[in-house]
Amino acid sequence: MNIPKHIAIIMDGNGRWASKRFLPRIQGHQKGVKAVREAVKHCGKLGVKTLTLFAFSSENKNRSTEEVSLLFKLFLSVLKQETNKLNKHNVKLKIIGNMELFPQEVQQTAADAQALLANNTGLTLVIAANYGGQWDIAQAAQQIAKRAANNEINADDINIDTFSQYLCLADQPKVDLLIRTSGELRISNFLLWDIAYSELYFTDTLWPDFNPAELDKAIESFNHRDRRFGARKDKAC
Ligand code: IPE
Ligand code: IPE
Ligand code: MG
Repeated sequence: MNIPKHIAIIMDGNGRWASKRFLPRIQGHQKGVKAVREAVKHCGKLGVKTLTLFAFSSENKNRSTEEVSLLFKLFLSVLKQETNKLNKHNVKLKIIGNMELFPQEVQQTAADAQALLANNTGLTLVIAANYGGQWDIAQAAQQIAKRAANNEINADDINIDTFSQYLCLADQPKVDLLIRTSGELRISNFLLWDIAYSELYFTDTLWPDFNPAELDKAIESFNHRDRRFGARKDKAC
């Protein structure tokens, strides 16, 4: 079995999971945390190098203030509860996105957690929080423009490889497999640049129901893909 080095997941369907049970949406998000724990553990066991989870998109701030503030609270309590456990499992944590939106306490707790886990050598868990693929590309362009204005970089040296170095996932392996749960067939402004040649896997399973067996199914599907990257194995014309 070929294990993807980098798996990225759009964890969607928490609200629908709750609605189906006549529960408030937040209970779907809470249940979703259990699926996150399982996915992290399973990826660690399988030897996946990086797991990137879309937790909050740059557009999710447009939801009701109640839902947004409950999500911030949930993020804070999960960070507080799980950091030591992640440390025990040798997991490294990296948070990507514009953290300025988050309350100061969340920003501080997130920074502390990343610092505590910085030297771990097992799975890298990337949490995308207030992240947008378009924002990522724009912030890279901004960094490059500033460096060019300071004569630290030459416009002629900007190419695909140099540009990539300014993106949030620059230090991670290429995304091999992108999974989206809940049956929606779109990217919703998650990773854009980084999924140029990722294999895509969509499942109707709602995120709170996504378990290790579901992850195995996605990896199994990945193993049947013929990744050509635009080239052909046979050289015949
Ligand atoms: C994904 O679940 C979690 C976040 C976007 C924070 P949703 O909240 O989008 O759930 P649905 O899509 O409404 O079911
Ligand atoms: C994408 O799901 C964001 C996350 C899973 C964090 P959404 O539920 O926000 O996406 P849309 O609105 O269906 O495109
Ligand atoms: Mg959704």
